[in-house]
Amino acid sequence: MADLTDLCRQLRLAHIAEYIGSQQDEGLRSLAEQLLAAELDGRRRAKLGKLVQQAGFPHLKTFEGYVTEHISFPQGSGLDALRTLGWMERKENLLLMGAVGTGKTHMAIALGVEACRRGKAVQFYRASDLVAVLQEKFMAGTLSKFREKLRKMDLLILDEVGYVPFNQTGSELLFNVIADCYEQQSVIVTSNLEFGQWTSIFGDTKLTSALVDRLVHHAHILSFTGESFRFKQAMERIPG
Ligand SMILES: Nc1ncnc2c1ncn2[C@@H]1O[C@H](COP(=O)(O)OP(=O)(O)OP(=O)(O)O)[C@@H](O)[C@H]1O
Ligand SMILES: [Mg+2]
Repeated sequence: MADLTDLCRQLRLAHIAEYIGSQQDEGLRSLAEQLLAAELDGRRRAKLGKLVQQAGFPHLKTFEGYVTEHISFPQGSGLDALRTLGWMERKENLLLMGAVGTGKTHMAIALGVEACRRGKAVQFYRASDLVAVLQEKFMAGTLSKFREKLRKMDLLILDEVGYVPFNQTGSELLFNVIADCYEQQSVIVTSNLEFGQWTSIFGDTKLTSALVDRLVHHAHILSFTGESFRFKQAMERIPG
């Protein structure tokens, strides 16, 4: 009966729980358990689908077959620990830094999908796309509403910080979004540039150091090294 009670609690079916609880028919209980389990599973899958769709991932990735030998994890924050998403509960950030094609975006998406699986709201943006949206909303006078929407996210993923430099307005708008997240929401940033080079993206030295300061304060910094997986896969396709 513990299972049935638990299922009814999760599905918020107080009256059904009461009714089945009063019945002695084992067959009825077993059927009810199967039906409620199917309902719960269906609701979970529908919610996951909705969260994944809302997140705006460019494609889906999982940790199946994901190798980690070339990644330096901080002490106590190996992949298994990161996958438990305790860092998200603590509103900490993940900074995935390193060379081209080494799996930063793949990891960011796979963690984002796991967060969706736990019912968390995630939003994925390539940094330059987010800046473009922010500028558009700014011009249209709807920026506050958009920032409000971002504030409701549990996790913001900012991919590819470093490939495209921003103009002054863009940098300031992105700074404000990151400042909004500070200690309130988790952010995953992927970048091919070390922090020392971030002024080349954001332009202003003061703004860059204030932004980096907020990002790194409660953060796990992972370093990705080695050859590009894209390059390796392309080489493997060349007939020997
Ligand atoms: N650790 C890994 N194990 C297996 N496949 C991987 C791994 N890392 C990356 N890949 C695959 O290699 C390709 C490139 O990875 P990804 O796009 O994540 O690299 P990146 O570090 O984000 O590169 P960039 O800096 O150019 O954006 C993808 O198809 C990805 O699925
Ligand atoms: Mg990438």
